[in-house]
Amino acid sequence: MKVDVVLGLQWGDEGKGKIVDVLTPKYDVVARFQGGPNAGHSLEFGGNKYVLNTIPSGIFHEHCINIIGNGVVIDPVQLRKEIEKAETTGVDIRKNLYISEKAHVILPTHRLVDAASEAHKGVHKVGSTLRGISPTYQDKIGRSGLRIGDLMGNQFKAKYDSVVSNHVKLLNSLNFEYNLADHEPAFFEAVEYLKSFKIINSEYYINQLIKDGKKVLAEGAQGTLLDIDFGSYPFVTSSNTITGGACSGLGISPQKIDKVYGIFKAYCTRVGNGPFPTEQENETGELLRKLGHEFGATTGRPRRTGWLDLPTLKYAIMLNGVTDLICTKSDVLSGFDQVQLCDSYSINGKVTSELPFNLYDESVQPNYKSFPGWSGDLTKVREYNNLPETFRNYMDYVESQIEVPVSIISVGPDREETIVK
Ligand code: IMP
Repeated sequence: MKVDVVLGLQWGDEGKGKIVDVLTPKYDVVARFQGGPNAGHSLEFGGNKYVLNTIPSGIFHEHCINIIGNGVVIDPVQLRKEIEKAETTGVDIRKNLYISEKAHVILPTHRLVDAASEAHKGVHKVGSTLRGISPTYQDKIGRSGLRIGDLMGNQFKAKYDSVVSNHVKLLNSLNFEYNLADHEPAFFEAVEYLKSFKIINSEYYINQLIKDGKKVLAEGAQGTLLDIDFGSYPFVTSSNTITGGACSGLGISPQKIDKVYGIFKAYCTRVGNGPFPTEQENETGELLRKLGHEFGATTGRPRRTGWLDLPTLKYAIMLNGVTDLICTKSDVLSGFDQVQLCDSYSINGKVTSELPFNLYDESVQPNYKSFPGWSGDLTKVREYNNLPETFRNYMDYVESQIEVPVSIISVGPDREETIVK
C-alpha cells in the first residue's frame, strides 16, 4: 500500500480542508506533515462550519485514524481549544487522534518572539499569522527546541526554562513589552491535558499501518508558494510545504508516495506580504474577495486577490510531482463578463513562463489571456458536462497548459458541492 498526498499549489487557502474531508472516506488514515496553527482548514457539512488548525481534516470521520506528524509544530493551548471544540460535534477525538512525540512544541514565548520580530521588521514584515511558527522552527533547526515527547520527561521544566531564558533575552533586546504570567498558566494546564492523549512514535506507527494495507492520506498545510525553499522567499512560512515535506514530516520514504493531489483555486489569493504578480488591487479584486469570502480562516485578515497564474501553477506541479489536480472555488468566478488568467510573464521585455529568482522584482509583468465568463449558480451542478460551456473552455485551456488532468472540481464549500470528473 502507498501513501497519497494532498497539498496546496498556491499561497495557501486553496480549500484543502474541504477536499481532505471529501477524500477521507477512501482512506483509513489522515496524517498532517508540517505547519501548525497558522493553518486554518475549513470544513462544512450538515449546515455547520468547522475550522481545524492542527488536527488533521479526517477527524470527523469515525473510521479514520488521524496523525499529527513530527513535522508539525504544536501549540498545546491552541490544540486543546481545538479538541474541545471538535468534541462538541459528538466525535470521540481521543479515540482517533495520535500525536508524534517528535513534533516540536510552540511555547508562549515563541508567540511573543514572533510578534516582537514582526514589529521590529516594520514595513518589511512577512505578515506572519503570529502563531509562533517561525521561532519554533528556528529552535528546531537550531537544535534547542522542545518536543512533545519532552513533556513527559522529568527534565521538561529545566528544558523549558533554558529555552525561555534565551527568548527572554531576545524579547528584552527588542524592547518588547510582555507579561509571561498572562500566558504560562494556560500553557502548563494544556501540557497536562495533552499528556493523556496518544503520544506515540508516529514513524513506526504509520509505516506499520502502511504495511498492514491501510490507505494513508498525507495532508499538507499552507501552499507551495509559501514553501521555505521554493516559495517567494523571504515571504514564506518556515516549513517544506511540498511533497518532499510529507516524507520528512511523517517518516515515510519517497518510494511510498503514490498519488499527489494538487489543489488550486480557480483564481489566486494571498494573505500577508510578498509578491503576487496577478494581484488585482481594484474593483475586480474587491469582487473576488466578496464573492469568495476571502478572509483568513485563522486570523480573519482580508486576503489579497487576483487572477489565476499559470507560471506559478506549473512550477508547483513540477516541484510536487502532481498526478491529480483539484480545482476549488470555481463557483466564485460565476458572474464575471470576462475571466482572465496569466499564462506567461514578461521580464525585462523577455517572455517566459519560468519563475525568476525574485518574484517581487518590479519588472515581472503578467501576460493575460481573456476568456468569456459564465453565469448562474454552479453550486447545484454535479456533472462536469452540465457546467457552462464557457467554464469548460476555461478549464480545457488550463489543462492543456499544465498537462495534468483536473480530476475534481469543487463548486461550493459543502462536501456535497463537488464534481468528480
Ligand atoms: P507564518 O507561517 O505564520 O510565519 O506566516 C508566514 C506567511 O505565510 C504569512 O504571509 C502568512 O500570511 C502565510 N501563511 C501562513 N499560514 C498560512 C495559511 O494557512 N494560509 C495562508 N497563508 C498562510
